[in-house]
Amino acid sequence: MKSDWKNTGNPIEPKPASKPKSQKTQWYYILDLIILIGATIGCIYQTILVTTVYLEQQVITDIRIQFSDVVRIPDLSICLYFYNFVSYSNLKGKEPKIFARLKSKFPTVTNQSTFNEWKFSSDAITFLTVEFSRLTVSQMMETMIETHQLIEKVVPTIRQIDLVNNVNLDDVNDCSVQTTVKEPYICMTVNCPILSYHQLQQKDLELTKYLGTVIAIYFNHELFATTEEYYVYLHPTGTLPYGTQMSSVTIVTEENSHKFFIEYKGFQANLLPPPYTTKCKNYTLDGFKSQNHALEACRNNASLERFGCGFYSDVMNANSNARLGISDYYLNYGDPRRRKVINEIYDNCSRLHWAPDCRQKYFVPRIQKVARIDSSSDLLCLSMPTEPDITNSCLPKLPLFEYLIYLGSILGTWFGFSVLSSSPAIFKWAFDLIGVLTSSRPTKGHILRNTNVKGKSRGKLKDRRSSSGSSKNFRQSVEAMKGIRQLRPKVHYWDDYFR
Ligand SMILES: *[C@@H]1O[C@H](CO)[C@@H](O)[C@H](O)[C@H]1NC(C)=O
Ligand SMILES: *[C@@H]1O[C@H](CO)[C@@H](O)[C@H](O)[C@H]1NC(C)=O
Ligand SMILES: *[C@@H]1O[C@H](CO)[C@@H](O)[C@H](O)[C@H]1NC(C)=O
Ligand SMILES: *[C@@H]1O[C@H](CO)[C@@H](O)[C@H](O)[C@H]1NC(C)=O
Repeated sequence: MKSDWKNTGNPIEPKPASKPKSQKTQWYYILDLIILIGATIGCIYQTILVTTVYLEQQVITDIRIQFSDVVRIPDLSICLYFYNFVSYSNLKGKEPKIFARLKSKFPTVTNQSTFNEWKFSSDAITFLTVEFSRLTVSQMMETMIETHQLIEKVVPTIRQIDLVNNVNLDDVNDCSVQTTVKEPYICMTVNCPILSYHQLQQKDLELTKYLGTVIAIYFNHELFATTEEYYVYLHPTGTLPYGTQMSSVTIVTEENSHKFFIEYKGFQANLLPPPYTTKCKNYTLDGFKSQNHALEACRNNASLERFGCGFYSDVMNANSNARLGISDYYLNYGDPRRRKVINEIYDNCSRLHWAPDCRQKYFVPRIQKVARIDSSSDLLCLSMPTEPDITNSCLPKLPLFEYLIYLGSILGTWFGFSVLSSSPAIFKWAFDLIGVLTSSRPTKGHILRNTNVKGKSRGKLKDRRSSSGSSKNFRQSVEAMKGIRQLRPKVHYWDDYFR
């Protein structure tokens, strides 16, 4: 009786001594299995999350607002309406037919000064637009005032160190002025290679002759004043004023000579090429300067093919033999078929060159001050930036290296994986696997035999799993997990202890 007190104290079920132990083992085994399954699910879930982020190739942005060590200097384009730029004497000499019609229609126009007055009337704009529709771009350019007459000289600043060393300053005057047609404008692009070649520091600009001036452009005041207004665009060096979304400043001409100071602010965006989500493209590899250049070349090409003129407002070479696009555009504006084609050209080219530039640079100009000067020249000065540049760079959100670290730590979290302690198990597992793959015996049985789970309980569980309709795949994955379990020496001991 005394030895039997447990059984009496516990009236539920007296059992043989061996039975509770086997049941206990079974419960621990089930608990272990649940933890194993839970850990596996957690591990797979996190791995999927991290892998998704890695595969999407998302980017993060890094924004810097600071004065750069080397000052970013843009090219400068001065644009004006083409009818502002027509010269009375050139029109007379080069296009006598148009000149004759002008004389008969507007008898008051007798010399350059009356012509200059007349140019700003709406009659004049209509007359010139219609008459010029018969001309090619190069023929139109011949009726214009010549650029070198208008722009007397361009003086770029030089480095302080060059001044100190008294280097030969002849190469300073190698600035070029390129004239292009961007209907309805004519643009003169000033490019001074010396400015980008000799990287200018902030110090160089602070100590220039006209304090802080990067480039000084001298205009012939007489010609400058015959036009109404000028637009000044800033764009990356070596490019032309491509695109329409550019900020500009407007300079209104005055009777007296003036000095105009324009300062600017630089923005730069660095995107990443595919597979990153920013999907940018390096257009220089295709022979273009930028995305806008590629778009304009495509549209001009298609428009030339269809209509024999450039695409409205896209940059054309000044010696092109294409007809003028603006006249064509306005004269045929009411034609729905033509409008549809123009629309199609625009859409087709946008579809072809949709990728943004990998390196985008913008310069936003601002008129700093205007001062009257007593001189026969007007002066346009580009001042150094007085506000910091903004640079926005994209970086990979999850580079491969970090992705691997994440995977390692996920394995560590759920399975206590550590390279150091697991290497022997991994090697053993790998050799076993190789053994299995090379032997003719069935894989499943072999791996099962290597696991530490033994006895009837396993058989029971196995039966239950198969009787509950689990697929072969499930069984294989559970068995594969057993393989992973070997990476946990501690769990083995824990199992074995209760067995
Ligand atoms: C131009 O013509 C107008 C009227 O015909 C005349 O008053 C003016 O003096 C002329 N200007 C020049 C520079 O010849
Ligand atoms: C684009 O390609 C050119 C030529 O290979 C290279 O010089 C330039 O640095 C590239 N630009 C960018 C933003 O990667
Ligand atoms: C322009 O069109 C011609 C054929 O019509 C083609 O060979 C050329 O590549 C095109 N150029 C551009 C920039 O699209
Ligand atoms: C634009 O593309 C479509 C489809 O590729 C083509 O059928 C159409 O002719 C193109 N339009 C022009 C104006 O090139």
